[in-house]
Amino acid sequence: MERSPTVAERFLNRRVLLGISGGIAAYKAAALVRLLVKAGAEVQVVMTPAARDFVTPLTLATLSKRPVLTDLFVRDGSGRWNDHVHLARWADVMLVAPASANTLAKMAHGLCDNLLLACYLSAECPVFVAPAMDLEMWKDASTGTNVGTLRERGVAIIGPESGELASGLSGEGRMSEPEAIVHALTEALVGRSKLAGTRLLVTAGPTQEAIDPVRYVGNRSSGKMGFAIAVEAARRGAQVELVTGPVGLGTEQAGVRRTDVVSAAEMAERCKVIAPGCGAVIMSAAVADYRPAKIEANKVKKKDSALEIALEPTEDILAWMGTNKPKGQLLVGFALETNNELDHAKDKLKRKNLDLLVLNSLRDAGAGFGTDTNKVTLLSPGTDPKELPLMTKADVARAILDRLEELL
Ligand code: CTP
Repeated sequence: MERSPTVAERFLNRRVLLGISGGIAAYKAAALVRLLVKAGAEVQVVMTPAARDFVTPLTLATLSKRPVLTDLFVRDGSGRWNDHVHLARWADVMLVAPASANTLAKMAHGLCDNLLLACYLSAECPVFVAPAMDLEMWKDASTGTNVGTLRERGVAIIGPESGELASGLSGEGRMSEPEAIVHALTEALVGRSKLAGTRLLVTAGPTQEAIDPVRYVGNRSSGKMGFAIAVEAARRGAQVELVTGPVGLGTEQAGVRRTDVVSAAEMAERCKVIAPGCGAVIMSAAVADYRPAKIEANKVKKKDSALEIALEPTEDILAWMGTNKPKGQLLVGFALETNNELDHAKDKLKRKNLDLLVLNSLRDAGAGFGTDTNKVTLLSPGTDPKELPLMTKADVARAILDRLEELL
């Protein structure tokens, strides 16, 4: 955490939708894809039909390791279509490079006659364009107006540069070099994230404590909060170690390495190995506090009399983390209290040597287990508790990581 992340680490794990429009600078798109992939990005290429005349989809598909898309409709008679809405939602960032005068004009006017433009209209992520055209086209008043319109709408313009142009003339209009484009993207997107390059341990889900070979003591945690934190941290460039109890969730996000465990003891064992090398530890798992004192070797048979199961405490993993915290590591715990919430939470913050405590509220509708939303209060030593409104778990994850970055 003390060292600055390298450029490659800074860009780690971002999903880039790269739109390529028709212009001679499209030949540089191959180098651009290569650099982005090398920097840790996942790249999906979308080309306009004209761009295919300048660079082959095969080259770009090979470099990006994904099929290149051009058409809104798949022309194999199947009636399938390339889902621009899904593509736009998948992306963390959209980059159009090269952006021709024609594509810039269509973007500025909301035209939508190819997949690239449909993706742009659907995109809610940051959009960057790297214009490339001859100097007269760049100087033309209509291009200037279109670029101004896009800039006003929040599109970031990279370049163009001055230099020798394909026409043989010299002047402004050359697409910025791929290195400069990647640098501009990196600065804008992740240059500010202090989590970039940091190794982070996140725990999630419930644990299950066996009674016998088929039954267990557990809880209703879905794992959604911990998974949202893992995904958001990876998007900020962290290398995430996700240790999860049994959940029905997948992990597609690059930069997240997942280890599945079942019991509190297994989770403790795994976390103790991983934590010492981490800049921060976020314990969002709902670890069982008790486990059956004895695990029956065979299935317990039903009887008419009452059944008593003796329980013993599990190891408090968070407490171990607080006691064994290396210098500079940040420790985040979760708490779920039902009475005197703030007092209990403040006590826990101190007792367990935490840097941040996320207090869950079960009293508010939409908060807690299984839902997609959550309502939390953030507590750090020496600051007033910050009560957040009901938000999606993805937004709560952002708020927690924003606070963590402030603490770094
Ligand atoms: N936790 C843990 N190991 C356990 C139990 C809980 O690491 N065996 C962690 C959870 O991951 C979470 C926090 O401790 O970050 C939750 O604490 P909570 O269950 O709210 O309270 P406890 O610490 O168990 O204390 P108490 O029951 O006294 O409130």
